[in-house]
Amino acid sequence: MDEAKQEYLESLNAWGEQIKDKLKSTDIPKDELNEWAANLDNWQEEIQSKLAQERNPEHKEIHELQEVGNRILSDIKNKQNKNPESSIPFGKHTLPPLPYKYNALEPYISEEIMRLHHDKHHQSYVDGLNKAEKALYDSKTDTNLIKHWLREQAFNGSGHYLHTIFWYNMTPNSAKEPKGEIKRRIKRDFGSWKRFKNLFTEAANSVEGVGWAVLVWAPRSGRLAIQTIEKHQLFQQADVIPLLVLDVWEHAYYLQYKTDKKDYISNWWNVVNWDNVNERYKEAIKVRWSLY
Ligand SMILES: [Fe+2]
Repeated sequence: MDEAKQEYLESLNAWGEQIKDKLKSTDIPKDELNEWAANLDNWQEEIQSKLAQERNPEHKEIHELQEVGNRILSDIKNKQNKNPESSIPFGKHTLPPLPYKYNALEPYISEEIMRLHHDKHHQSYVDGLNKAEKALYDSKTDTNLIKHWLREQAFNGSGHYLHTIFWYNMTPNSAKEPKGEIKRRIKRDFGSWKRFKNLFTEAANSVEGVGWAVLVWAPRSGRLAIQTIEKHQLFQQADVIPLLVLDVWEHAYYLQYKTDKKDYISNWWNVVNWDNVNERYKEAIKVRWSLY
């Protein structure tokens, strides 16, 4: 095997060991710890089997191994973030790794779209948000530019937050229709799954230019609602929590669907991660204000 590839695989393996060591010193419950350790073991076994082979692994195989490692690490980070004291300092946002492979949503969303959408577009919102936050919250903020940086924060920040929800709202193993508590709530608030699906689809179709369709939990109303957002931040209601978001910017579908936005929207229902929507719902309904 070529030396650089061997070195890289060995460093991935060592990285796995470091993560295991770090996990031991955290306050994660033991059963969860065992689950993570098992995931890491499986991943390291794959690395070791590649190392044991005579043949040179392809770049793609190595890249996939790296992605699996990133996913495991991101899952662990997400668990740790449940600590109410943890936060991201101003200007320090990072791009979350995709929770599946780039080609996992095919044939509904192509690998090429996912790579550009995640690696380029989402990254640019993360960079833009960091830049705006650094300018705004710096002790030497130029007060003449506050309006500009607040707008940059709104656009890029909403872009970053919405895309982060969007990746986790999708999965290659979709149940294709709601399940769990969100299923009951959709029926209660919209009459039926079919009515909700039609309304959400029409909302997405109605977006002019670039924007999103969003299912939200509205704590002030004690129920769900549907809204659209123009760009990432315009014309949305305040005081609501997004549960399910659909990106209808052209960058989300044009390379595969050209101008057929309707086809993209109808195919997208095949990759909705209803477990994730249900989890978000169960967290969101913990926020409940006096109803008015
Ligand atoms: Fe997007």
